[in-house]
Amino acid sequence: MDYSNYFSDLKTVSACLEKRDELGNTGRIREIKDLITLANPEAKKLLGAELNKLKKALQQSCDEQIQALQSHLEVDEVVDFDPTFHSNKYLTRQGSLHPITIVMNEIVEIFQKIGFDVADGPLVETQWYNFTSLNQPSYHPARAMQDTFYLDLKDEKKENYVMRTQTSGMQIRYGETHEPPIRVVVPGQVYRNENIDATHDIMFHQIECLVVDRRVSISQLKTVLQSLFAQLFEDKSLVIRFRPSYFPYTIPSMEYDISCPFCHGKGCRVCKQTGWIEIGGAGLVHPGVIKNINLNPDEWQGFAFGFGVDRVTQFKLGISGIGQFFNGNLGFLRGQ
Ligand code: DAH
Repeated sequence: MDYSNYFSDLKTVSACLEKRDELGNTGRIREIKDLITLANPEAKKLLGAELNKLKKALQQSCDEQIQALQSHLEVDEVVDFDPTFHSNKYLTRQGSLHPITIVMNEIVEIFQKIGFDVADGPLVETQWYNFTSLNQPSYHPARAMQDTFYLDLKDEKKENYVMRTQTSGMQIRYGETHEPPIRVVVPGQVYRNENIDATHDIMFHQIECLVVDRRVSISQLKTVLQSLFAQLFEDKSLVIRFRPSYFPYTIPSMEYDISCPFCHGKGCRVCKQTGWIEIGGAGLVHPGVIKNINLNPDEWQGFAFGFGVDRVTQFKLGISGIGQFFNGNLGFLRGQ
């Protein structure tokens, strides 16, 4: 008997499935099953086997029709399907990039335009890369300044892993794996065991910059910083000011400020009437660090700088506290 005509007229997959259920356990097949229970044992066996054959044949013709409908859809109808189509309802709820991501991307693009590579590094880091290779051995007081999260997990040197406290460790990781000259920026998250308040969080973002070449100078460093921040704050008159400082991995070391892009150095609420905004740390790469990236410090020199992106994002987008950044307020994230 040909069962295919039960399904061959049906035009949709759901109609096929409906028909199958109608015939199936709740429908006519159920009735036949009930009748079979009344038969004598011999006949029951035979009829049961026949019924199973019938069920299989129906299922098969149902499957065949569904397949036929679907292959027809693929060829003729799917062509008109536009996967990018949104109804207005969904358009109003589109996602957006986080403000810090937007500013971080903008900074990275400025560097890419002048030929810098962009690198990414691990958030869980060894003490070697995060501290020791940067001239910060375990007894160094500079370690205590960065309240570190130590993990309950040890590396090959039997030292506990840490959540990286700075992106500076990537100077070594990148230097080890790339031939000089080096020009790289490393954007990413860093972690410190801080008491959370209006200006501190346990996670924030940094950008690290490393240049290694046969000859580099502080004036090159200053030019790169000036050009970066002038572009970022769209202020051609922006200038950089260095203040002497100390970092174990640079010598000499300095901190740098930008002239306030809001009052052009005259003094305003944003720069607290000083005309300057503190940004980050910089310096010429320490010869010990050059050695740790397997280069000869008599042949190769470097400059490096780093800064916090969250603070820069606040200035760039006029956001008052860092409290809004990660509290999940959708209005804020949508820029309202
Ligand atoms: N790692 C420093 C910090 O977390 C920032 C920094 C200072 C990076 C000086 C550098 C540098 O590359 O040369 O505060």
